Amino acid sequence: MKTIRIGLIGTGIIAHQHVAKYKKIPGVELVAACDLNQAKLDAFCDQYGIPDRVADYRLLLSRDDLDAVDVCLHNNLHAPISIAVMAAGKNCYCEKPMAGSYKDAVAMKKAADHFNVKLHIQLNMLYGPQMNAAKKLVEKNRLGMIYHARSYGYRRRGRPYVDGYAEKEFDSSYWAGHGALYDMGVYHISQLLYLMDTPAVKRISGSVYQELAMDEGRRKISGFDVEELGVGLVHFNNNLTLDIIEAWAIHGGAFPLSSLHGNEGGLQFTEAPAGPQGQGGRQVLRYFSEIEGYPAESLLDVSAEAYRQSKIDPNHDCYQDSQAHWIGVLRGDIKPIDTPEIALQTMLISEGIFLSNQLKREIAADEIFELSQSNAVKQQETDFGTLDYPGYPFFEA
Ligand SMILES: NC(=O)c1ccc[n+]([C@@H]2O[C@H](COP(=O)([O-])OP(=O)(O)OC[C@H]3O[C@@H](n4cnc5c(N)ncnc54)[C@H](O)[C@@H]3O)[C@@H](O)[C@H]2O)c1
Repeated sequence: MKTIRIGLIGTGIIAHQHVAKYKKIPGVELVAACDLNQAKLDAFCDQYGIPDRVADYRLLLSRDDLDAVDVCLHNNLHAPISIAVMAAGKNCYCEKPMAGSYKDAVAMKKAADHFNVKLHIQLNMLYGPQMNAAKKLVEKNRLGMIYHARSYGYRRRGRPYVDGYAEKEFDSSYWAGHGALYDMGVYHISQLLYLMDTPAVKRISGSVYQELAMDEGRRKISGFDVEELGVGLVHFNNNLTLDIIEAWAIHGGAFPLSSLHGNEGGLQFTEAPAGPQGQGGRQVLRYFSEIEGYPAESLLDVSAEAYRQSKIDPNHDCYQDSQAHWIGVLRGDIKPIDTPEIALQTMLISEGIFLSNQLKREIAADEIFELSQSNAVKQQETDFGTLDYPGYPFFEA
């Protein structure tokens, strides 16, 4: 088995989750990490036994012993630093959302093609027992002709930082670009796009809101200026539609989970039970159909199937989470799910909602590239001087 050597840029909250997953995959070595915050970097490298640490990402990119670099930075640094990673000839794994705007995400995808390296975006809801079963039902035509999808994400009150979890950069358009749609919305939208084979978007309408009160001290520190609620309606080719509601905070009861509807069947995701996937409880996918004219609902026990498959398919684990998939791709064991394309179309949809909200009208898909503006950070002050990131267009094929 080929050893895969990884370098990480950014050692904040999500980087801990990445390392936890890498540690479970045999033959993965975490060889270097980078963060501007020296105390965080030291604690991180000490905790995980990572031998090399640097504050300046350019030093990490100058190494010639890395198979891939994992970018765990704030959204508006995804494009400039991921493109620098790829320009250095390195395969790049980047956190979601793909970038801070659609325009920046397009530049990332072009860079991957131009520098002929692999790019993978963390979209963790494309994997796991429920998703694998849903994909199988769609591929086996159990839904018939799919005509509508619902992308739902609910938190009663769970805005990052102001409601107590995560760092303040999540709430600022300068660092994050946008809010709930970029944080949780991208997972739910991308999951449905993948199930529908990433259909071409025709037009989008939507609105975003920030209406609920929050801790005023924390509002001031974070500069909260992103949406806590995003809603949208997307029209694709072939009369297919998708409605979206994504809440970080709302006065209302829990929404149902995302669902997909065809003329012969429908499916709906359910909350996964606590504990590791496939253990800690029965995990089910809901499937709706008709038996002899009677509306019928089945609960597919997907936890049992995941366990069984793991014993007979050597690559089964590569479809259980995003990191395992990435390592399988780097080893050449599996064909990659096209996460850059799925993430890019997800960015197009989010951008359409933001533009529709701003312009107070429906937006056609082919208007979006022209109207989209780069949100990428251009400059960053550090203890070792100013880091300059090239301005847009920072990548031209
Ligand atoms: N926090 C979560 O639960 C969560 C979940 C899923 C995805 N994400 C995604 O992960 C990304 C990071 O979020 P986070 O919560 O880990 O943020 P964080 O603030 O905890 O960590 C970001 C780290 O990047 C470092 N950093 C900033 N600029 C840098 C630079 N130029 N070079 C090196 N280091 C630099 C910061 O010092 C910080 O330690 C975001 O895109 C977010 O959407 C976060």
